[in-house]
Amino acid sequence: MTPRILVLNGPNLNLLGTREPDQYGQETLADLAQGCADCAHALGLEIEFRQTNHEGELIDWTHAARGRCAGILINPGAWTHTSVAIRDALAASELPVIEVHLSNVHKREPFRHLSFVSSIAVGVICGLGSHGYRLALTHFAQLLKEPRG
Ligand code: DQA
Repeated sequence: MTPRILVLNGPNLNLLGTREPDQYGQETLADLAQGCADCAHALGLEIEFRQTNHEGELIDWTHAARGRCAGILINPGAWTHTSVAIRDALAASELPVIEVHLSNVHKREPFRHLSFVSSIAVGVICGLGSHGYRLALTHFAQLLKEPRG
């Protein structure tokens, strides 16, 4: 069976393309979704690509991924810096998690330097724009090929 990766995007990422393009680039969320789908296809992965502005919805999707998906790629947006609930939901999923940010959060305001998610993530990619999503998918493909010990 083709391994499925859940790709989650948090608040305001529906505005990509028009929202602070200096920070987040010109690509729309639909462009990002298409780029991820193409990349996943080439890697032999399936993806479910989702975005929400509602924290509880993202938590419900995370719970539902348990046992159904092989990993979670998440750009939690501003919830990165505020949400213990999302961190706990990701931990409860017992799935490998990769945290991705389009911008380099460490070059930005100090409140963006703290992530509640990083401590439960396999790894974190930031500052590489949409390429970061494709790198994360590539890593998942590699991870899922490795024999489980
Ligand atoms: C972001 C960085 C966050 O600090 C910000 O709140 C976002 C987007 C990024 O992709 O660079 O909404 O996660």
